[in-house]
Amino acid sequence: MAVERTLSIIKPDAVAKNAIGEILGRFEKAGLKVVALKMLHLSREQAEGFYAEHKERPFFGDLVAFMTSGPVTVQVLEGEDAVKKNRDLMGATNPKDAEAGTIRADFAETIDENAVHGSDSAESAAREVDYFFADEELCPRTR
Ligand code: TYD
Ligand code: MG
Repeated sequence: MAVERTLSIIKPDAVAKNAIGEILGRFEKAGLKVVALKMLHLSREQAEGFYAEHKERPFFGDLVAFMTSGPVTVQVLEGEDAVKKNRDLMGATNPKDAEAGTIRADFAETIDENAVHGSDSAESAAREVDYFFADEELCPRTR
């Protein structure tokens, strides 16, 4: 299995719950390494661009409103099979369907405010990392 990178976002609901540290801790305990990290309050344009693939969906307006409702942290996680590992840690999109012990089961109640984002494929990860970070903001982890 190859070392991969994936884009993770701790969404405004989880930041508001003061859960940044606990969520980042889950990534680290699972062996994923943070190679880039920042906090920002997304503009409408940034949120719309990030979720452009969903722009025709009925929930798009609410999703953009939620994602711009408060600050988020955006981080790049690196490790073996990082895309899938992160998705497994996150749990299902709808917290009601998320397995016990996953981030969404533990920190979210509803599908529209579900605590975290994670890239869904290596291709999405490359695009999403590039959306938020310049190459020189990624810090190789040699140990
Ligand atoms: P999606 O990419 O399908 O889920 P995931 O975040 O697990 O990759 O959808 C993006 C976000 O859009 C999702 O995290 C929450 C929101 N959303 C809704 O509010 N309602 C919905 O019915 C769906 C499918 C998503
Ligand atoms: Mg998705």
